[in-house]
Amino acid sequence: MHTELSFAPLAGIETELLAVPAFDLQTAKGPDAKAQPTLLAADEAVHSAAATVLASGEFKAGANETVLLHSPAGLAARRLLIVGLGKQSKATVHSVRGAAGTAVRFAKPRGIRELVFALPASPELPEAPSARAAVEGALAGDFDPDTYRSDRKDQSIQSFTVSAVADVAKPFVESAFAEGIVIGESQNFTRSLVNEPGNKLTPTILGERAAAMAAEVGLKAEVYSTEKLHELRMGAFWSVSQGSAEPPALIVLRYEPDGVTDGPMLGLVGKGITFDTGGISIKPSDNMEKMKYDMAGGAAMIGAMRAIALLKPRVRVLCIVCAAENMPDGKAQKPGDVQTAMPIAPDRPGKTIEIINTDAEGRLVLADGLAYARQLGATHLIDAATLTGAIGIALGIHNAGAFSNDDATFTRFETGLAVSGEKFWRMPLGEEYAEMIRSDIGDIKNTGGRYGGAITAAEFLHAFAEDTPWIHLDIAGMAWIDDAKPYIARGPSGVGVRSIVEWVKSYAQ
Ligand code: BES
Ligand code: MN
Ligand code: ZN
Repeated sequence: MHTELSFAPLAGIETELLAVPAFDLQTAKGPDAKAQPTLLAADEAVHSAAATVLASGEFKAGANETVLLHSPAGLAARRLLIVGLGKQSKATVHSVRGAAGTAVRFAKPRGIRELVFALPASPELPEAPSARAAVEGALAGDFDPDTYRSDRKDQSIQSFTVSAVADVAKPFVESAFAEGIVIGESQNFTRSLVNEPGNKLTPTILGERAAAMAAEVGLKAEVYSTEKLHELRMGAFWSVSQGSAEPPALIVLRYEPDGVTDGPMLGLVGKGITFDTGGISIKPSDNMEKMKYDMAGGAAMIGAMRAIALLKPRVRVLCIVCAAENMPDGKAQKPGDVQTAMPIAPDRPGKTIEIINTDAEGRLVLADGLAYARQLGATHLIDAATLTGAIGIALGIHNAGAFSNDDATFTRFETGLAVSGEKFWRMPLGEEYAEMIRSDIGDIKNTGGRYGGAITAAEFLHAFAEDTPWIHLDIAGMAWIDDAKPYIARGPSGVGVRSIVEWVKSYAQ
């Protein structure tokens, strides 16, 4: 998708489709105000063209509601699409992200390949963050998951233009727009990885994709396999991988900006299970096909690294993705087995883990990923994983879970959510939960029972992050969208990418 930023007056823009946002009708105030949507166009000609339909009461401008006019009078555009932002009191730049995605997804099936999206002319929705959100939303809306359909009609948008009002803020609008392109494309890169089935994206292939991306954007990449796992004594990671004919991939990406030799080194750690059968504690077959997205946390980290490489914040970032397949096999680990995780420091023994359930494999690969990140010098950690079904039971599909052992570190993440527009809800940690995963035979066991399943999983990771400031993101309920929305297709969401990038930016010197 080609993207452009235009400062030309709306009425004169020649385009197949001009999309203009509107607040819903409940915003009318004063005795003379007619209850009709408020069109957010700076241009009088657009108001005239839309006057009749807005007065009709047919269109209420609810969030992502649309109405289309052909050959709008007085405009050079061939079609005018009005897109609702919902109530003025509730609308944010994130509503703009949705509206831009909605406009794109409106255009796609109708054979429209090019459109212009007007930023809302409203003081509550400043142009710079709106421009960023709009292009992010458009890129997200352009993504469809039908890669392997032989009758696939390529409906992608060829050109998307954001129309802004030229004023003193112009340079800010331009840089926010440029940033939105990087972030939107990186999120889509993550989604394209998550969308791949297990046979097309093995751990090895995930490693190749990450390395190819790294070469393109100028990141250092190392991809290791079985031998390196043994060398590093990654007994927890290997215990998952040992049951698969596919070798594991230990993916290490580094972003080291010139001249930054001290200060924080951020460690991004991702779960990269390219397929999760559950292993010997095998999952039921219903919905098992979904477990191809069990590498979404790793893919989010890889996508975030792409954005970081292009946005160039002045802070060092290390990314570790532990990729493996979780399979049942003659060589697979068994419930009751005891594994020794990677030592957190060279002079310490690795923690011993009693395997209760081989389906609790994500925490095993992440334990070694976190330990390795610490050994490589990470001062702050963030991990992302489709870790537990329990997080979906706790929070549903509208918030992902976030856990942290450090309030200051978490505050940075939370602050970034206002920019990313992603919803994460902080969950508790605590000694009582850590108690639930104490093992009789070893140091720790890999499940703590049904109650508080997302929290005991987080406490398992905490045992490897220890006191290093750390955030854990459980995205199991949010990484896959089951029902299409007007602004985004059903399928991989790319959740996490935008928030992780904001968190990294908060450390830039
Ligand atoms: N990959 C799953 C978690 C998951 C569930 C992701 C649903 C996406 C959607 C994870 O490896 C898993 O199997 N977790 C178990 C843990 C249990 C055995 C303690 C679970 O959630 O049931
Ligand atoms: Mn599992
Ligand atoms: Zn899993």
